[in-house]
Amino acid sequence: MQQDAERWKAWLRGIVRDAPLHARWLNTLSLLEHIGSRKIVKALDSDTLDLQLLQHIAEEARHAFFFKRLSERVAAGACPTYEAPYVLSASASRAYIQGLDREVHDYLQRQGALPQEAARASMLAYLVVTTLIEERATAMYALYEEVLREVDSPLSLRSVLNEEDRHLQEMHEAFARFEGFAWPLHAPTLRQTEAQLFEAWLVSLEREHPARPSQGSKRSESYTSPC
Ligand SMILES: [Fe+2]
Ligand SMILES: [Fe+2]
Repeated sequence: MQQDAERWKAWLRGIVRDAPLHARWLNTLSLLEHIGSRKIVKALDSDTLDLQLLQHIAEEARHAFFFKRLSERVAAGACPTYEAPYVLSASASRAYIQGLDREVHDYLQRQGALPQEAARASMLAYLVVTTLIEERATAMYALYEEVLREVDSPLSLRSVLNEEDRHLQEMHEAFARFEGFAWPLHAPTLRQTEAQLFEAWLVSLEREHPARPSQGSKRSESYTSPC
């Protein structure tokens, strides 16, 4: 795990030193947050939406906006949309989140864990996929934040990190209320599936933009205003 963290940070160090690449990376995260927020809206029956779920939807949409705005700060106008030239490893990035959705659904079906009632089945898939994404996001964003601090970047992911932490807590509370599915029993296998998809994404990112040896330098990006 520690080795994975170092590998990930090494890749990020190369990205944050190159403003056009960094802007594309931030735009890639914006895209994934956007896809995540859209999936939540689609997965949940509107009859079941409560204050907490609405807040979660609003915050995931805000995260997409947050990363897009940071991308603009790093390199204004460099990534106007989510089209392939403006996203890092465009197909692999999309494949990570879409693949996770598919794999989780297949797993729940194989285990006979999907409730008969469509709204409950959808809610369970939402809880599982979102928990796996929140776990990854909190770990990944924490390392990214460390790298940003290393290079004295004016950018900070603190506000997003705090919200992702809270979402994770809410997911665990929701699992405890969801009858007929024991998350702790399924979590190891599902985490392994997510880790394989994440590894495939990281390999693709590394292939496209190999990690550069650390030069121990502070920031080289031209932007200066704090977010
Ligand atoms: Fe998010
Ligand atoms: Fe979240």
